[in-house]
Amino acid sequence: MTDHDALAAIPKLELHLHLEGAAPPAFIRDRAKRNHIDLSRVFDEQGQYRWQGFAGFLSTYDAVCTALKTPQDFHDLTLAVLDNSASHGVIYTECFLSPDFCGGGDLNAWRDHLAAIDAAAQTAQAQSGIVMRAIVTCIRHHGPEQARKVAICAQETAGQFVTGFGMAGDEARFQPKDFIWSYDAAREAGLGLTAHAGEWAGPEAIRATLRDLRVSRIGHGVRAIEDRAVQDLLAERGVVLEICPRSNIAQGLYPKLHDHPVAKLRDAGVKVTVSTDDPPFFGTGMTQEYSALADCFGWGRDDFADIARIALDAAFIDAPARAVLQNRLEEACPTPT
Ligand code: ADE
Ligand code: ZN
Repeated sequence: MTDHDALAAIPKLELHLHLEGAAPPAFIRDRAKRNHIDLSRVFDEQGQYRWQGFAGFLSTYDAVCTALKTPQDFHDLTLAVLDNSASHGVIYTECFLSPDFCGGGDLNAWRDHLAAIDAAAQTAQAQSGIVMRAIVTCIRHHGPEQARKVAICAQETAGQFVTGFGMAGDEARFQPKDFIWSYDAAREAGLGLTAHAGEWAGPEAIRATLRDLRVSRIGHGVRAIEDRAVQDLLAERGVVLEICPRSNIAQGLYPKLHDHPVAKLRDAGVKVTVSTDDPPFFGTGMTQEYSALADCFGWGRDDFADIARIALDAAFIDAPARAVLQNRLEEACPTPT
């Protein structure tokens, strides 16, 4: 077996994947055609997504989402995304789903889209064994009022499939405290909580997110590397970072993986996990992330098994389903005694 094959075979748990952001360009081109939407500007000559800088990324992302109109579109997208994840050895994935892109925050429209996504997740699980859970996600730059509608969608559909609440979007807009109402509502509904922070804003944004939104996980959080006290806070509280190395590099946060803080944060005692964020936008996949980390930092099977166990502990999933995943992981990577 080559190293690449060995890495592909390691069971992986992905905690940070945006469903729309994982849409293959060919899928979006097809839906744009069917739904009579001109999206030529979002593709480059090679048929890949065209974007530049974070603002450009968000603008292309929004445009891509306009191709997805119906619950059936989201059903088919979910099947395509989970099929691809399973081919990378992913056994568990949490996907960010945004009611803003599924009917604009209207609860009935959201229920229809969610039912279609849930049905596709069940089909995928029956086909490949991959388990999916949903994190209902507000988009920060759509503002706190819209986030309230999203939190209500999350509250009303919390259960076996919808297990988390999150926030993505432009970190330069609004403050964590502007979203306290939404996070309180989600917490009361029993949802696990995460928020993108410390990706574009500095370490103080991580501190404010922990204080005001009381999350157990942070999306990215890489800029904790700039403040030792924030690293200590994350380590003491056992907050888990959903780190997406290739996303940060493709967006220009760090020039190369060698400069990325994932290994230093891990060495500082911070719980890190590995995800892909929006893989076709960044030319990545879980196997590519693992390969690059192995090559750059010398991580091996034990390191990746350790990361998978951290992800499983931090997963927003019920105890029986967690136990099933734990057995699958333990079978492939027995815990050293
Ligand atoms: N939405 C999708 N990917 C994102 C990212 N990396 N940061 C913020 N919002 C996002
Ligand atoms: Zn993200």
